[in-house]
Amino acid sequence: MASSNIVVAFDAYGTLLSTESIAKKLTESFGEDQAKTIAAEWRKYQLEYTWRSNSMNQYIDFATITRRSLLHAVTEQGKSIPHSQVESLMESYDSLSTFPDVSPCLSSLASVPSITAVVFSNGTYDMVSASVTRSPDLSPHASAFQQIVVVEDVRRFKPDPRVYEHLARKVGKEGRMEEVWLVSGNPFDVVGANACGMKTCWVDRAGNGWADRLVALDVGRPTVIVTSLEDVVDAVKSLQVVVYR
Ligand code: LAC
Repeated sequence: MASSNIVVAFDAYGTLLSTESIAKKLTESFGEDQAKTIAAEWRKYQLEYTWRSNSMNQYIDFATITRRSLLHAVTEQGKSIPHSQVESLMESYDSLSTFPDVSPCLSSLASVPSITAVVFSNGTYDMVSASVTRSPDLSPHASAFQQIVVVEDVRRFKPDPRVYEHLARKVGKEGRMEEVWLVSGNPFDVVGANACGMKTCWVDRAGNGWADRLVALDVGRPTVIVTSLEDVVDAVKSLQVVVYR
């Protein structure tokens, strides 16, 4: 039987959802410039905390990490934030704005039955499913995704190889990593997926080119680079291989 089914796993934060968009909400408590700085630092510490959690072998779920990294970013700016505002920001985190190229990308995916799209995120299932089903930007496209795959079962974060293997298992591609694409705006995620034998598409919206040098370029570099998610479907189709089983 010919199976041309390719799985495309979309990273959530920084790929579908703009973590910078929370800056607007932060201006309720801080000035515009400081809100931008806090949004950027919040994201930086959020990722750093996931990597530290992996290194320390102490899993702390992504919602807790997100809350604590916000406090880190605010404290470092010499500010404090009331509990009620933290909760309100956490609620807003579940309906971050999408990047403008998300909607056309997901619309075009709907017309390509050979591609199965899933969301694959460090986020908790509650956070990611709230974003997919309730965010005004993403919810119209909720049906584009066949599954939401999160790392909670594995209790590790990207780029631990176990989370990419977990993804492959969840989408029925265990041992066939090369049939799974990761689409991500996060270079560390791309490098992690490459190391597991997946195909990767890096979304370089800023157009700055590939800079990550953790591993040698010939193995670390993404399979394809796009500057807009709108080009993802064509990129995947052009490298699609029909697999006979
Ligand atoms: C995610 C992180 C990488 O959504 O932001 O998995």
